[in-house]
Order: sequence, then C-alpha cells, then structure tokens
Amino acid sequence: MEQYVIKGGKPLVGEVEIAGAKNAALAIVAAAIMTDETVTIENLPDVRDINVLLQAMTEIGVIVNRPDRHSVKINASQISDLVVDNEYIKKIRGSYYLVGALLGKYKKVEVALPGGCNIGSRPVDQHLKGFRALGAKADIHRGRIRAVAEKLTASHIYMDVVTVGATINVMMAAAMASGKTIIENAAKEPHVVDVANFLNSMGANIRGAGTDVIRIRGVEKFHGTEYSVIPDQIEAGTFMMAAAVTGGDVTVKNVIPKHLESISAKLTEIGCRVEERGDRVRVISNGELTGTHIKTLPYPGFPTDMQPQMGVTLALAKGISVITESIFENRFKYMDELLRMGANLKVEGNVAIIEGVKELNGARINAPDLRAGAALVLAALAADGFSVISDIHFIQRGYEDFHLKLQTLGGQIELVDSEKEVAKFKLKVG
Ligand code: UD1
Repeated sequence: MEQYVIKGGKPLVGEVEIAGAKNAALAIVAAAIMTDETVTIENLPDVRDINVLLQAMTEIGVIVNRPDRHSVKINASQISDLVVDNEYIKKIRGSYYLVGALLGKYKKVEVALPGGCNIGSRPVDQHLKGFRALGAKADIHRGRIRAVAEKLTASHIYMDVVTVGATINVMMAAAMASGKTIIENAAKEPHVVDVANFLNSMGANIRGAGTDVIRIRGVEKFHGTEYSVIPDQIEAGTFMMAAAVTGGDVTVKNVIPKHLESISAKLTEIGCRVEERGDRVRVISNGELTGTHIKTLPYPGFPTDMQPQMGVTLALAKGISVITESIFENRFKYMDELLRMGANLKVEGNVAIIEGVKELNGARINAPDLRAGAALVLAALAADGFSVISDIHFIQRGYEDFHLKLQTLGGQIELVDSEKEVAKFKLKVG
C-alpha cells in the first residue's frame, strides 16, 4: 500500500507550476461527448479522477486519445451504450456530469450513483429537479441515476441550494433543450464559468455563468473544439497554504489570482505577505501566524475545499481560531489526526475551535479524504519529526505529482510502498 513518508520542519521555498482544474476538467471531459466531432482538451490534470472518467467513457464507445500527458482528444461519434457503470466510476463524484451530457445529446442515460469523498451526505435532488424541469423522467433506480426524455424543453429553474454539480449538470442538458432556460440561484464558481465557456466554444449559447442567473438558449447540435482548462484554484491554494504553515516562500505559477482572492485575503490576515504578479502569486511567511475566523461559503466565499488546509495552518497560529463549515457536514475528520500530532482543538457540530500550538509533532496518520489528506501532508511538513501518511490514494485523486512538486520546494517527502522503504527514508534524511 502506497504511503507518504515525511520529515517535517523545513520551510518550503521555490516555485511550483499549477495544473488544470480537476473539477472543471471532469465536467469538460464529460461534456465533450455532446458532439460527434473531435474535441481537444488541453491543460488536463493527470489525476486519478480524470483517468477513471476517461476509462468509463471508452467503455461506452468513446474514442479517447492522449497525445501527451496533459491533453486528450475525444471523439464520441460511435457511442454504443448509454449505461455507465463500473466499479471505479462509482468512486468519483464527477461521473454525474455524464448524466447531463448524455441526456442532452441522446435524451436517455443511466449512470452509477457517484461516490467521491465521504465529506457528508451528497444528495443529487437538485440535479434531478433540474432534469425534470426540462421534461425528463429522472430518478434513482438500482444504484443509478436514470433520466429519459422524449424531448428536452427549456424551463425556468430555481435551485434550492447553491450547488456546483447541479448547476453544471443542468446547464449541460439545457444547452441542448429547445428554447431558453433560466437557472436562478446558480453556483458562481470559476469552474462553472469554464464549463460554460467550453460549451459555448462547441456552439452552445450560454450567458451569465459566473453570476447567479444563467441563461441558456438551446441548440440542436454542437461541433468540435479545442479548449484549455483553467488552472486549479484548490491546488494553488494548497501550495499557498504550504508556504504559510511551514514559514516558507512559495510562488504558484499558471494561476488566475482573482480565483484565489478569498485565500490570499485570509493569508494576509493571519500574517503572510501575498504578492500577485500576472499569472503568479507569491506567499511569504515568517512562521509567525495569528488565528482568525473562517466560514466556508460558495464562491466567492472561502472554499470548503480549502477548509482542511486552512485548519492545519491555524493549528499553528497564535490565539483562538474558529472554523465554521457550512457546505458539507463531515469535513472535520482530519481534526482527529491533528490531535494526534499535538494540536489543541475541539469540534462541535459544524464548528471547530482551535487554539494554536507552537509545534506539531510527526505521527502515523490516515488521509480521510482528498483535501483533508493534502492538508495532513502540509501538517506533517510543518511538524517536528517523521510522519507516515496512509490512504494517499485519496490525495492522488486530485493532486498531480503532489510529492514531487513538494520535493522541488525542498519538502522532505517520499512515496513509499513498504515499511522497509520508510526505514530507508529515515536513515537517508537522518
Ligand atoms: C463540488 C466539488 C467539490 C466541492 C463542492 C463545493 C466536483 C467533482 N466536486 O462538489 O470538490 O467541495 O463542489 O464547492 O466538482 N446539494 C444538495 N442537492 C444537490 C446537490 C448538492 O442539497 O442535488 C448540497 C450539498 O449537500 C452541499 C451543497 O449543496 O451541501 C454544495 O454541493 P455541490 O456544490 O453540489 O458540491 P458537489 O458538486 O458535490
């Protein structure tokens, strides 16, 4: 079983290239099947979630070519099956984007209910509500989302909660419904905008993505396109936080600073220097951080996907910090592991109260999910001594070459496969 072994205590310093956004790419890859012409997608992150989705697509007859690690050519002119179900696809969340894409194009689809990280109950009622509003029969049947329509017809849809997944999914199906659909209370995340731009580049007519009202005039047919995915806001934020928590100096390259503003603002507030220049953001920390209050909110608020990385940083920040998690109810599992590393905190419902300590100590810990796993790697890099992190398959779902990028910043981290290799690492770094 692969693990990370880490020796902490060294400030991370240097520059790191940020990959394409996983959550945008999942939707874009799925949406690429909406045309019979070839679609080329660039700046694709080479992470497990994307590769699982591409594999599932080949199983229903989509032709997938990878000219290089970060691009893919997709041709969906010969789809032979509208049922997507295999043991891997159930493990990723983004699989549900195939519902909107296939329903839009073929008016019929069944996709295994998505898994993804266990960060709380993750209902799909708003997705179903949107598909039904467009005239589809949509339900959950034998562990699959099932949707079918004679014809999709535009509608006026009000989302009951702000949801990234349902906004994108319904937007995809509506892009091929007849008439003008309006989605109100839409999610405004950068990846919603990126997917809308991608669909428009295939011939869709979508306006207003990035605001809370999206207007979609349905079209009958899409054409091929070439498109480059936006940089990953969460990967960038994770490396920015790595600078903060280790008292380092890290520049993230190939980013859109505007997408990072809520993170930059909090880092400045707790005592870091943040400098934006073109497509780079530099975070300088002298390790003297002060506590703060954080509440996760839909974009442009502080992202729930950055909450664990911030929690780890605040465990080493002077004073009392309070984190309120308002999006997912089960996102504090990493706190138990942090306690084992010497943090001083308690969790009550969706609120965590943290009193910063001077030092964390290395420990054997488990990655509970994708972002929490990455956050614990940061904790281990800041901690005194050695840590071994298990269940890193969660981290590999969403971070490309995580340990290699950390190594280029001077992080003492290695991917190991056995206790013997753990011992070897300990001998090597002393
Ligand atoms: C996406 C991201 C995930 C991120 C989250 C919030 C992907 C693959 N995952 O997840 O990394 O943490 O956005 O930024 O892109 N909800 C409902 N009914 C629904 C759908 C959602 O009640 O039908 C609720 C959820 O329980 C949650 C909130 O809406 O409380 C937001 O969920 P949503 O934005 O949809 O998250 P995901 O798309 O699952």
